[in-house]
Amino acid sequence: MKVLVIGAGAREHALAWKLAQSDRVSRVFVAPGNPGTAADPALKNLPIVDLAALADFAVAEKIGLTVVGPEAPLAAGVVDLFKARGLRIFGPTQAAAQLESSKAFAKAFMQRHRIPTAAHAVFADAAAARAYVTAQGAPIVVKADGLAAGKGVVVAQTVAEAHAAIDDMLGANTLGVAHNTDGARVVIEEFMVGEEASFIVVASSAKGSPQAVALATSQDHKRLGNGDTGPNTGGMGAYSPAPVVTPNVHARAMHEIVLPTLAAMQAEGLPFTGFLYAGLMIDGQGQPRVVEFNARLGDPEAEVILMRLKSDLLDLLVQAADGTLERAAPLQWDRRTALGVVMAAAGYPAAPEKGAAIADLPPDSADLRVFHAGTQRDAEGQLRAQGGRVLCVTALGEPVRVAQQRALAAVRGISFPGAQWRDDIGHRAVKH
Ligand code: AMP
Ligand code: GLY
Repeated sequence: MKVLVIGAGAREHALAWKLAQSDRVSRVFVAPGNPGTAADPALKNLPIVDLAALADFAVAEKIGLTVVGPEAPLAAGVVDLFKARGLRIFGPTQAAAQLESSKAFAKAFMQRHRIPTAAHAVFADAAAARAYVTAQGAPIVVKADGLAAGKGVVVAQTVAEAHAAIDDMLGANTLGVAHNTDGARVVIEEFMVGEEASFIVVASSAKGSPQAVALATSQDHKRLGNGDTGPNTGGMGAYSPAPVVTPNVHARAMHEIVLPTLAAMQAEGLPFTGFLYAGLMIDGQGQPRVVEFNARLGDPEAEVILMRLKSDLLDLLVQAADGTLERAAPLQWDRRTALGVVMAAAGYPAAPEKGAAIADLPPDSADLRVFHAGTQRDAEGQLRAQGGRVLCVTALGEPVRVAQQRALAAVRGISFPGAQWRDDIGHRAVKH
């Protein structure tokens, strides 16, 4: 079977690498891919980003499965487009992807169906939003309603900080959020206390009642700096499994959040097939609540999850796309921890600098892999930083500290002037 992966980041590098390991796969195309996928002989980059042109390619090449990495093509309706052309694709439709693309939709949906989450209110008017914040007090959370690649969220410690965030999101928009077409809105949320984890399932609503197979748990580190300080980013590193997700928390996440969400989406006429990512906040009593839904794999969560997956990913995703997930064998996982450290460009996240030369990447081995994100080769073949998050250096090891040290040793050996990274990824598990 020929497979197509849509996207260009480290998540898509990991997806393509894993899919290529299946005995049933003859070729994995990555559109557009990156220098990391270009260097892997099992993968082939395809310089097409236009979705209609990709569908033409998939028809002509008889692509047996397409897997979508990022949120933007999902929100643009790539799944609807491919299905209309008779193509098999794993991902949610445009309507179902609203669980991620519209925070206002997701919050109202959770409220309607009593899915545990923070109390909230939605505003288009800055004065009304400011007054609400003044009445509620701080800490309080201000979110832009639209796709913001994880950056349109301000956890405000003071009322003044929340007011400034409202003014920015409904005015100057320095965060660069792609607002929904009906205008700029902000969602203001109760601040939830606890520890976060990423709970991602392969969901299928293709036939009958919805089904879900949980992937390994993980934890992302969204702040730029060590000790979880500094601005929010797309994610500076992750590790799997996340010890905070005990068997009890796991069962509650499945039965109180994931399965009711899939059933309610289907009942509302928005059946969800794809990776469903519940960002959880887990309180001291082990009660998980939803921070956010994503309609895709997390990045860098995908890199650490897929590093541990021993089962055939192609089989699983084909079964999900076809509505036959009940046939899926239980997933097998490497028992060790996988830990990924993101190397980001100088200036990330506010103003990432492009062009730094990157050299001395370590060779991939059974317990170390470097997934590429924002890299590019120049005309002379020199690898250069091209985006905010540039590399995700991912290691397997037991216990967590060994995986952490293995990843960091590799990071320190890479020549990348100005690179930013955290050296405490996994700190919560190291302490456990
Ligand atoms: P989001 O993009 O919605 O995942 O938000 C980014 C980060 O902001 C989350 O990973 C949390 O660390 C934090 N956050 C978002 N919403 C809340 C909330 N209601 N309470 C506490 N922290 C939150
Ligand atoms: N790592 C968080 C995300 O993918 O949204």
